[in-house]
Amino acid sequence: MRASLSIAVLAFGAAVSLSACSKAPESSGSGDSGPAAAPPAAAPAAPEMTDAEKQAVLAALPAPYNTGNLENGRKQFALCRSCHNITPGGPNMTGPNLYGVFGRKAGSHEGFKYSDALKNAGFVWDAEKLDSWLTNPQSFLPGNRMTFVGVKDPQKRIDLIAYLKVESGYKPPE
Ligand code: HEC
Repeated sequence: MRASLSIAVLAFGAAVSLSACSKAPESSGSGDSGPAAAPPAAAPAAPEMTDAEKQAVLAALPAPYNTGNLENGRKQFALCRSCHNITPGGPNMTGPNLYGVFGRKAGSHEGFKYSDALKNAGFVWDAEKLDSWLTNPQSFLPGNRMTFVGVKDPQKRIDLIAYLKVESGYKPPE
């Protein structure tokens, strides 16, 4: 269901002209000289989420994170990439894999040796917790081992959290 919906969204331009055709099957179409060219082949590099799906994930965040700029968030994630992978089943690096981090208990990703501080933190990651963590990991959770000064600009954190939510595989409830 979702897949065919995505395809419909992707092929939006084509779908519009198709449905126009199917609504008037007996029309000769003689006066119909629409743009003839094939749809631009914007071949996605990977089986990506559609923009509509990304927007749905974004909308599921509480304000102000639902206003995050995903493209800028992707750029901000460059600060994290040296230590974190965010693909499904991806490796733990210096830091744990972040796929699925939303809704995950802090310090609980399999196969990663966390500090006691993170292991015993006793909360579940959500946008607000990530915001506090990313502002200054050491003052938020003293004794943890993430060697990172933090992201001081609130807007950059909002964009980063929006990006993390979309990229870490969060699915909004149907
Ligand atoms: C220098 C390496 C390094 C960088 C850079 C870094 N991290 Fe980390 N991160 C770690 C380590 C190590 C831990 C585990 C800390 C511990 O066990 O105390 C961690 C833990 C985390 C956790 C907790 C995960 C869990 O499973 O509970 C989150 C979330 C996180 N990092 C997000 C980020 C984000 C987002 C960035 C970029 C803005 C970032 N980190 C940058 C090394 C890093």
